Amino acid sequence: MAYSDKVLDHYENPRNVGSFDKGDTNIGTGMVGAPACGDVMKLQIRVNDEGVIEDARFKTYGCGSAIASSSLVTEWVKGKTLDQAMAIRNTQIAEELALPPVKIHCSILAEDAIKAAVKDYQDKHAS
Ligand code: FES
Ligand code: FES
Repeated sequence: MAYSDKVLDHYENPRNVGSFDKGDTNIGTGMVGAPACGDVMKLQIRVNDEGVIEDARFKTYGCGSAIASSSLVTEWVKGKTLDQAMAIRNTQIAEELALPPVKIHCSILAEDAIKAAVKDYQDKHAS
């Protein structure tokens, strides 16, 4: 399978790999798995007092498209509000990375991971 240049770029130079400190109360963590292939993606956001995502991290155990999708969304969510981050669609990711049909579920994993991270943050900060 030939990966697109953008997938290769993110795969070879992934952005924002890692995790935030567990004690940081301003983070939300999303952990999702793809039933289709068993790949796992962990995505974290750090949210500032204005409700804007100021930073993000990911760790993905999966294929090149899954790594590229998560790397891309960590870039996209920075500077976005939680609502804006929730509005990111896997179709946008797939389009940006020129993913072939069999790799669409990799982009769905990234959409699900960001949603799970936002929800985790909101759950922790519900008052
Ligand atoms: Fe998940 Fe490709 S099947 S790594
Ligand atoms: Fe399953 Fe990419 S996440 S093949």
